[in-house]
Amino acid sequence: MGAAGCSALRRSYNVPMERDIERILISRKCISERVSALADSIGETYGADSEGLVIVPILAGSVIFLADLIRCLPFKMKIGLMTVSSYRGKTTSAGESRLIQDLNLDIEDRHVLVVDDILDTGSTLRLVVGELRQRRPASVRICVLLRKRSKAPRDFSVDFVGFDIEDVFVVGYGLDYNDHYRNWPDIGVLKPELYE
Ligand code: XMP
Repeated sequence: MGAAGCSALRRSYNVPMERDIERILISRKCISERVSALADSIGETYGADSEGLVIVPILAGSVIFLADLIRCLPFKMKIGLMTVSSYRGKTTSAGESRLIQDLNLDIEDRHVLVVDDILDTGSTLRLVVGELRQRRPASVRICVLLRKRSKAPRDFSVDFVGFDIEDVFVVGYGLDYNDHYRNWPDIGVLKPELYE
């Protein structure tokens, strides 16, 4: 479907997301440039070790980031899915996470790159890394698109970060509120009256 088809769809269904977004925090253009720079860093870091790399995206928030990132990575890789649910209030992470769907690939002696949408309290990624390490991978590295710098724990480091952001609740580019807004192409701050 061409661009004209997309705008026709927008007109006929007309359920605009923009009215719920207070402001754009990171534009789609900035995201795209940063994702390709991240892919360059990942490629340089792995070098010859990219052989047999397993990418582990954490569902569902990382899906759009993952799709863009891996298409900038020119080497062969496997993708193993994990789903984690975070127990949280409407927009605050309570710091408790639970594994919903486990990895479906053998990662023993493999280099593993975990891809997630956002590092907030770190509870999700701590759980994931703990689970993965039990399977004796050659290495585990982490790539997050966003990091809430003021909340991210100091004793938990990640290897690749797209953007450090302030402590606001963001949606778009895969991030949701109540399972909506994942398809908003920018990263935006949701209007507080929608969840207060
Ligand atoms: P933790 O606290 O485990 O949080 O590091 C990571 C998970 O919590 C969700 N999360 C958000 N989702 N906007 C969102 O749409 C946000 O601002 C936000 N902060 C945390 C997300 O699922 C992430 O993987």
